[in-house]
Amino acid sequence: MRIDIFSIFPEMFTSPFGASMIKRAIDRGLVEVHTHDIRAWAEGKHQMTDDTPYGGGGGMIMKPEPIFAAVEDIRGADTCPVILLSPQGRVLTQPILAELATHDRLMFVCGRYEGVDERVRTHLVSDEISIGDYVLSGGELAAMVVVDAVVRLLPGALGYENAAAEDSHATGMLEGPHYTRPLNFRDWEVPDILRSGHHAQVAAWRRRQALLRTLQRRPDLLQTAADISPEEQSWLRQMGYTGPFAAKSASKTDLSQGRKGRKGEKAGRN
Ligand code: ADE
Repeated sequence: MRIDIFSIFPEMFTSPFGASMIKRAIDRGLVEVHTHDIRAWAEGKHQMTDDTPYGGGGGMIMKPEPIFAAVEDIRGADTCPVILLSPQGRVLTQPILAELATHDRLMFVCGRYEGVDERVRTHLVSDEISIGDYVLSGGELAAMVVVDAVVRLLPGALGYENAAAEDSHATGMLEGPHYTRPLNFRDWEVPDILRSGHHAQVAAWRRRQALLRTLQRRPDLLQTAADISPEEQSWLRQMGYTGPFAAKSASKTDLSQGRKGRKGEKAGRN
């Protein structure tokens, strides 16, 4: 996969992408990450990337020309998703990440100031993603979050092949508890079952713990999680769950709603 990130603060990405899982994935050749300074495409003596808003009001708006020039220059004749990070985008979820991870190439545009000229939204980007209902001072941190969460889904990026598939949220539910050595820490013991060596029983225990944790912390997820068996459903009822369960055919990767929900006309572009 190749990732291009457009920002007026490209130096922000140096440290996060120079360590840990992303660095390993880059070193292994699983992903190339290129950061680009939008200012390099800005014209004039001062290479301005922002300007005051038409109609008045406070704040500065990112100008369209350098953003278009940068993206078009780097993209060339390629077609790939061009994603604007903004608090107005569709809120990031694990199924959205799974879909992004299927592309050979992704581009991220980081907005700053009060926002970007609307023509970037309507004529350049193919998608707009928010990492949550709160406002950051720019899209850079959001781009880091998305890139980290996409790259760890690439085959070979995590040491243990099934790790991403077993993550909290990948299953539509939260994961249960994990333990490592020591067996006894301050008199708090690791559950016996995990030391029993009975793989099927361990798997069954983990499944119950995942259901229980989801019930306790995010019962809303039980409404959409796929593959909760009838036995598990009645157990969850006994444990106090009163909400609905997903129909059996519910697909965890059905993105059509998220994509069309916002701007149907743009879902297929780029
Ligand atoms: N830029 C500012 N706030 C943001 C958010 N919540 N998600 C993505 N980009 C942003």
